[in-house]
Amino acid sequence: MITIIGSGKVGGAAALFTALRKVTDEILLLDIIQGLPQGEAMDLNHMLSEKGIDVNIRGSNDYSEMKGSDIVVVVAGSGRKPGMTRMDLLKINTSIIKGVAENIKKYAKESIIIPVTNPLDPMAYLTYKVSGFQKNRVFGMGNMLDLSRFVQFIHESTGYSRNSIRALVIGEHGENMLPLPRYSTVAGIPLLSILSRDKIEAIVQGTRQVAAKVIELKGATVHAPGNAISTIIEAVVRDTKQVMPVATYLDGEYGYSDVSIGVPAVIGKNGAEKVVELDLDSGEEEWFKKGIESVKSAISNLTI
Ligand code: LAC
Repeated sequence: MITIIGSGKVGGAAALFTALRKVTDEILLLDIIQGLPQGEAMDLNHMLSEKGIDVNIRGSNDYSEMKGSDIVVVVAGSGRKPGMTRMDLLKINTSIIKGVAENIKKYAKESIIIPVTNPLDPMAYLTYKVSGFQKNRVFGMGNMLDLSRFVQFIHESTGYSRNSIRALVIGEHGENMLPLPRYSTVAGIPLLSILSRDKIEAIVQGTRQVAAKVIELKGATVHAPGNAISTIIEAVVRDTKQVMPVATYLDGEYGYSDVSIGVPAVIGKNGAEKVVELDLDSGEEEWFKKGIESVKSAISNLTI
């Protein structure tokens, strides 16, 4: 069973995209708002019935119903409003995520936890620490969403099929995120051979800023995060061993410890099974370090 805690727009989208991938028989939507998860589940079940997909979605306000969950996605908490940064949500979401993590520890102690709530990297760290789970079983979805935007910009700039593009973003899911043109290709052709440095710099900046633009225009990002969550869930359930950037706890990798931040990891049935260390050049290392410092500063304000 897959549990999604938080039944707002992103939680509903995550349930929808996950159900369409047919990777589970059952999805539980949880929320503190009476009626919201139940109504979302009914609406999704009606859609699935028309499509003939036998994935059953339940809605509940009772945390104890997540007993036996294999995967728990955490999207509970506030989303940012126009003009806010993700880090601006640190104070308001910390107490929420702490309570959620304690409930997961109580009711779903064998599960893999995928934090999504912002600020993602500090919330992933908080969830890891409060749950007490092994580090491979707690990893946040952030850079998978960032790379979806990076791919879109590359698609728009080159006109090539999205299906030919392999892009990578690591680091903080925030102002200091690190899109990696050196590790991005189109049909195996290095991006640096296809686009000018100026164009690449423009799409790197665009990748950092585009979520705020979507929020300014439509109030929230929904489909892209919902889909990115379902991509990670599928990799876990099918044990694909795909390498994906996820916010995982570092214990010396990349030269850093006691921090959670986006790095490439092998995703399979045991979660983030192995961190893949890249050779970063000085410029990349500088951006990665800025993200580390931002996340560590936020972590220092957490009372765990
Ligand atoms: C975004 C939010 C989910 O990047 O952080 O859309």
